[in-house]
Amino acid sequence: MTIRPTLWRPPAQGQIQIAPSILSADFSALARDIEAAEHGGADLIHVDVMDGHFVPNITIGPPVVRAIARVATKPLDVHLMIEEPDRYIEDFARAGASMISVHVEAVPHLQRTLGFIRKLGLSAGVVLNPSTPAVMLEDVAGDLDFVLVMSVNPGFGGQAFIPHSLDKLRRVRDVLTRARSTAPIEIDGGVDTANAAAIVAAGASILVAGNAIFGSPDPEAATRALRAAVAGPATAA
Ligand code: DX5
Ligand code: ZN
Repeated sequence: MTIRPTLWRPPAQGQIQIAPSILSADFSALARDIEAAEHGGADLIHVDVMDGHFVPNITIGPPVVRAIARVATKPLDVHLMIEEPDRYIEDFARAGASMISVHVEAVPHLQRTLGFIRKLGLSAGVVLNPSTPAVMLEDVAGDLDFVLVMSVNPGFGGQAFIPHSLDKLRRVRDVLTRARSTAPIEIDGGVDTANAAAIVAAGASILVAGNAIFGSPDPEAATRALRAAVAGPATAA
């Protein structure tokens, strides 16, 4: 059975979307933790898929995404940190993903992969590792719906934000603007209430946060606190 995905709408000008990453959630109580984040005002649920090859960690696959889709009311933002993502994109789409992002470092034919994701009716994102230059987006800017800038080296939650990522955000925005794209930029890794305002000022409008939300004893309050730390009203679902 194919789960019908919840439609994702990009943040409007001045709006910020909060995307709690379930990587730091209690995997034995995912439904409870997702509900708490949604009550706290989460706009998306960020799902980190790792294969033990592209990154040195293994997490979850389509069956768990399918289970999450049954309990989440917000769009599922599926971040694929896997080799050969083309082989699994359809499975994640069927499992209920609304957004799928792939790493430029893992995909040889990026334009084709983005087209494949969009053809399935989903929003397509391109992810850049910290060492991957913004210019890699130049020739696919018209083929993507959002960009995901990694502000840690992917693989684990709870790592420290790499300060250079603020410059990276500005360079990504420049590349997109030159290519006449207004696609939103998502940031992932080490985001918390202390750095969120600077991150937004540098150009990100979708904030992923794992440890800052699910590492807290009260994920609902932590989601609210992250929203309060940045300017901009909650987006309507
Ligand atoms: C890292 C993942 C992130 C991670 C973020 O590889 O892509 O989504 O969960 O977690 P924090 O916010 O704890 O850095
Ligand atoms: Zn992620």
